[in-house]
Amino acid sequence: MSKPTPSKLTQSPAWKALQAHQAEIANLEMRDLFARSPERAREFSLEAGSLLLDYSKHRVNEKTLALLVDLARQADVEGWRARMFAGEHINASEDRAVLHVALRAGQDAFPAGGDVMPMVRKAKQGMRAFSDAVREERLLGHTGKPLRTVINIGIGGSDLGPRMLTQALWRHADAPQAVHFVANADPDDLAHVLAQAEPETTLIIVASKTFTTGETLGNARLARSWLIEGLKDEAAVTKHFAAATANVKAAGEFGIAPERCFPLWDWVGGRYSVWSTVGLPVAIAIGMDRFEQLLAGARAMDEHFLAAPLAANMPVLLALLGVWYANFFGAGTHAVLPYAECLRELPAYLQQLEMESNGKSVDRGGERVDYATAPVIWGSVGTNSQHAFHQLLHQGTQLIPCDFLVPAATTAAAAENALAQAAALMAGRDASLPQRRFEGNRPSSTIMFKTIDPHTMGQLLALYEHKVFVQGIIWNINSFDQWGVELGKEIARTLAQADAAAAAAGMDASTNALMQRLRGWRS
Ligand code: F6P
Repeated sequence: MSKPTPSKLTQSPAWKALQAHQAEIANLEMRDLFARSPERAREFSLEAGSLLLDYSKHRVNEKTLALLVDLARQADVEGWRARMFAGEHINASEDRAVLHVALRAGQDAFPAGGDVMPMVRKAKQGMRAFSDAVREERLLGHTGKPLRTVINIGIGGSDLGPRMLTQALWRHADAPQAVHFVANADPDDLAHVLAQAEPETTLIIVASKTFTTGETLGNARLARSWLIEGLKDEAAVTKHFAAATANVKAAGEFGIAPERCFPLWDWVGGRYSVWSTVGLPVAIAIGMDRFEQLLAGARAMDEHFLAAPLAANMPVLLALLGVWYANFFGAGTHAVLPYAECLRELPAYLQQLEMESNGKSVDRGGERVDYATAPVIWGSVGTNSQHAFHQLLHQGTQLIPCDFLVPAATTAAAAENALAQAAALMAGRDASLPQRRFEGNRPSSTIMFKTIDPHTMGQLLALYEHKVFVQGIIWNINSFDQWGVELGKEIARTLAQADAAAAAAGMDASTNALMQRLRGWRS
C-alpha cells in the first residue's frame, strides 16, 4: 500500500497543537491529577437527561479538552450537524440524506423543505395497529389460532438493534408472545428457533431494508417452506409473514401481503434503523407506547446534541476522547463493558454502529487517510468480563480505553464492581513483586443511569450514534456508506454458484485449494 500524502487534517493547526500537547502530558499520571484537583470528578463530569458521564478518569486536563474542542470546531462539527438535521445528502457516495433522527423527531414537519414526517407518522400508525393486534391476540393465523411466537429474520442492522433492545427491555415486555431472532446463514440458527415453534401459531417478520440480503432471504425461504409444509397450504404465507423493508415490491413477490409490509426508506441506514419499522419486534414485545418512550429518549439526546455547547456536549466529548486515544496514543481498540446481563448484546450492536460507520480508510474526497479511524470495538458484560479478559486491561501491554455502562438499579454488586474496575485501572497499585504491580493510568469513561428503561435506552443509543457521527466528521470520512461489505458478498455468491469448481478456478490458489477440499469433504 502506497504511503498516503499528508492530509489536511494532520497538517492542520488543531491537530499539530494536540500532537505537541500529547508530548507534554503523555507522562502525567491521572492519580496525580486527582490528588492535585479535588474538584476533578465534578469538573470532568456531565449530565444529560438521565445519563451521567464521568470522564475524569482520562489522560486529559483542561487544555486537552480545549484543544480537542478546537479540533471539532475546525472540522465544522456544528455545520455538519446542521446539515444532517436539515436532510442534506451528507451520505455523498450514495447520494442520500441521513435522517434516522426524523424517526424520533417531535416536530410536525421535518426537515424544513423536505418533510418526511407524514410517511414516518403513517408507518408508526401501521406499526401500532399491527403490534397491538398481535399483542392482543386479535391477529390470527391461517387456522384461526392466535399467533404466539414471533420470529424476526434479519441480519446486521435488521437484527442487532431489535435483538439487543428486546433483551435489554425484557423487564418491560408484557406480550403473550415469545420473540426470537434469527440471523445466521448457518441453518442451525433457524432450526433451533423453529424447534420451539408451531407453524399454526408463528408470525415471521422478514426485516431487510433491501430485501436482497442472501442470509435473510435464505432463512426466510426456509421458514416459508417450514410453514407451508406444516399447514399444507401455500396461502398460509400471507397470514404468517410480515416485512420491514424499503423494497415492498420484492417483499410482495416473496408472498408478503402489502398491508403487512412496513416501510422504511433509503435515508435510514441499516445500523440506524432500530427506530424505524425494523423495531417492530420490539414494539410487539414491549408495546407501542413504550416504543414511543424509546423514541422520546433518543429525541432528548438529539436535542442535547443540537443545543449543548461542544465542550459540554456528551456525544461530542465521547467522540473527542475516542479521537484522543486513537490518534494521539495509538489505541487500536476500545472496550464497551455494560454491567447488566440484559445489555449483553450491546457490544455487538455498537460494533456494527461504530465499525461499519467509521471503519474507512479513504476520506470524503476519496483520498487515503494518513491517520487512524475507528478502533476495534469489543467488549462483554461485567462482571463476567472481569473473570475473562480484564487481566489484559489492567496489566497488558496495550492502552485500551473502556466505557463502563452502569445502571444503578442492578441488584447485587454489579455497579460497585464497575466502579472498582474503573478505579483500579486509573489508580493502579504499587507492589514489590513486578507481577503484582498495577501501573494504572488506564483511561475509562463511566456512563451511569438509574434504570434500564425504554427512555434511557433511547438516550444511550442516540448518544453513541452521535458520537460516531462526530468522529466521522473529524476524520473527514463518510460514516453512512458501507462499501467494504460488498466484495466478500460478491465472492461468496460466485463460490456458491452451481459451477463452483470453475468459479474457484478463477480465484487465487489458496481459495481454489480450500474450495476443492471443501467439496471433497462434503461429498
Ligand atoms: O452487509 C451489510 C449490511 O448492508 C448492513 O449495513 C445492513 O444492516 C445489513 O447488511 C442488512 O441489510 P438489509 O437490511 O438490507 O438486509
